[in-house]
This record gives sequence, C-alpha cells and structure tokens, in this order.
Amino acid sequence: MSLDVASATPNESVAPAAVTRTPVKRTILMCKPEFFTVVYRINPWMDPALPTDTSLAVAQWQTLYDTYIGLGFDVHLIDPIDGLPDMVYAANGGFVIDGIAYGAKFTYPQREPEGPAYMDWFGANDFDVREPVEINEGEGDFLLVGDVILAGTGFRSASNSHEEASAIYGRPVITLTLVNPSFYHLDTAIAVLDASPTSGNGEIAYLPSAFDEPSLAVLRERYPDAIIVTEEDAAILGLNSYSDGFNVVIAAKAKDFERQLRARGFNPIGVDLSELLLGGGGVKCCTLELRR
Ligand code: ARG
Repeated sequence: MSLDVASATPNESVAPAAVTRTPVKRTILMCKPEFFTVVYRINPWMDPALPTDTSLAVAQWQTLYDTYIGLGFDVHLIDPIDGLPDMVYAANGGFVIDGIAYGAKFTYPQREPEGPAYMDWFGANDFDVREPVEINEGEGDFLLVGDVILAGTGFRSASNSHEEASAIYGRPVITLTLVNPSFYHLDTAIAVLDASPTSGNGEIAYLPSAFDEPSLAVLRERYPDAIIVTEEDAAILGLNSYSDGFNVVIAAKAKDFERQLRARGFNPIGVDLSELLLGGGGVKCCTLELRR
C-alpha cells in the first residue's frame, strides 16, 4: 500500500523545495520602550512585584528594530509617552489597511490614552483616521490574512468591533473566540506567515488550545495545513511573530516553531525580548503594519 505523505503527516506535508517564498518589504510602526515598566496587571504575564529593567528592554527592542532594518523594512517611530508603559506594544495602537487607520479603544483605563496618541500619529502621517466606537485593541486582535480579517474576542476586543472593522474596510471578518487568559490577544495565538491573497487563504500557525471549539472548527477547515505550535513554544509567546512572507522574526527560544518554519521553507530569525515578555508581549506586539 502506498502511503499518502500529505495525509499521513498533515503538518509536515510541504517540502521546502516545493515552495518558493518571496519576502515582501514591510512598512511598520514601532515605539521605543523608553518608559517601559510593569506597574499594573492587566494580563497574567504582568506582575508589578517583579523588577523590570528599562534599559535592557530598550536594548532588546533595538535588536528587533535593527533586524527589521536589516530586512529592508521601512520602520516608522512614534514617540513614547511617559506614564504609558505599554505603548511599546504598537500592534495595539490601531489597524491599518488601504491607508485607513481604524483607531484603538482600549479595554483597560491604564492604556486608554494610547488610542488618541496613535490616532494623532496616523493623522499626522496622512492616514485616513477612523475614530473607533467599539472597544478594540488594533492589530493585537485583527489580522489580515489573504482577503479576510481574522478577529479575536473573548478578553479584549469586543465582537461589535469586528462588525465595525468589516464595515470600514469592506472586507469579510472571521470572529475567533479566545479562551485562555494567557493568550488574550489574537496575535498571541495565531501567527500570520503568508498573508498574500495569491496563496489561497494564506498560511498561519496557531495554538489550538487557545480557542473555543467553534473557532477551532473554522481554523481547521480554512487552514488545514497550518503549523500547529507546541504549548511550550506558545508559552513564551512564540506565536507572537512577524513574517514578510519568507523571513519570520520569532522568539529565539521557540525552537520547535523554528524547526517547523524551516521545514516549510521559511527563514526564522530569533530575537530575545525577555524583558518585554514581562509585560505580556513579544515580537508582533511591538510591530504595527502600515498598509497603504
Ligand atoms: N501589557 C500589554 C497589555 O496587556 C501587552 C500587550 C501585548 N500586545 C499584543 N499585541 N499582544 O495590554
């Protein structure tokens, strides 16, 4: 009997030689963690009793910044604001497609002033800014993959914001419900590896246990070849990564994810953001894509 390799090992089915990965230069927004610290607790990763080292956070962030510059990305910077320690997690500052910036409206009062701060930046940089009505935490919970927006809810962004985003962009939104408080934003539970509409539905990696059953059914059906990451890799926010379609910047410690990416023809690049992990964020959290 001949063995159907694809169905025997669904998650290892794509041979590297069979796929040509094309990196696409990205334009992104970042925020230097000059005022980073942990003084409140709005997710299970944060413990105000543990010491933080702001200069180490800046040094680690700088490595991420330099990595992006090395990949040829166009990296924009927003000025950090004293008293907003989570502003480094630029992904939460909004969601930007087609030059339209849908502003963020934060769940917790501690981060609430970040919404207007990011909207000011978008406005000053010629984006068409849309003031949010519904609670949403930007690209933390909205991921563009192919021609759909995957949208998270359960802990932060309200499901009403999914309809708001769909109306703004005229694109279908797929709602996914998160169930594990450690994976409170969609970008902690799903990594977009290839977002290009030319590759069908695109390619993702995800952590199944982070989702409720109906959401899992959607993910399984839509992305049958997705990379399934280990609990170990997810537990250091390994999924919180950023891809240009070939290079995937990931947490250096996410070793199995690194192996799986390589097997699919991606080029994983590990960075250490251990200090920013104390705030509950990783690579992707520090990165907001700007799509014109
Ligand atoms: N301390 C921040 C919060 O809890 C971390 C945000 C992480 N950002 C992300 N895109 N997952 O809101």
